[in-house]
Amino acid sequence: MPALSDRRRLVAAAFAASLAGGWIRPAHAQPADPLANRFGGPFALTDHENRRRSERDFHGVFPLIYFGYTYCPDVCPTTLVTMAQAVNDLAQAGALVQPLFITVDPARDTPALLKPYVSSFHERLIGLTGSEADIAAVTRAWRVHRVKVLRAPHDDAAYTVDHGALVYLMGRHGQFLTLFPHGTTAERMTRVMRDYIRA
Ligand code: NI
Repeated sequence: MPALSDRRRLVAAAFAASLAGGWIRPAHAQPADPLANRFGGPFALTDHENRRRSERDFHGVFPLIYFGYTYCPDVCPTTLVTMAQAVNDLAQAGALVQPLFITVDPARDTPALLKPYVSSFHERLIGLTGSEADIAAVTRAWRVHRVKVLRAPHDDAAYTVDHGALVYLMGRHGQFLTLFPHGTTAERMTRVMRDYIRA
């Protein structure tokens, strides 16, 4: 039976070895953000003024992105109202945030249809659409759930789109910063965005 001090030394040596092996992370080290690089990427879409847009057009500002569609009966309008309120509540700093609405229903959401829709929520909200392949790529990059639901038999035109309802805040270089779950208040959105803009 070793003396108590020897046992302490053994424990200390075992602890040091575990640190060296990376098993125990020192308290001061920040764990890697598990959501970093999980959302976002390059895209090529068309805005509601028929201009081609890519993620590079929004470098330097903070894109606030929501995916939805103009025929959405409920969730989309509610969320877009919240986003518009949050951007307005940022006052001057709101100019650094670019709200974006990316359609999950490109077959129906043409630029001409998006234009009056987005301007009814906020004068700076940009609507984005594209080909089915473009939208499939961008929803994959942001991991947005999107399922077409037929509403009448033998009528392919009568459908709704089940879709993810998260709002994504991206950084000045297009990197993912954070996301807001459905139902986040404008007050909270404003506070969180202000913290990221100041950082
Ligand atoms: Ni919706």
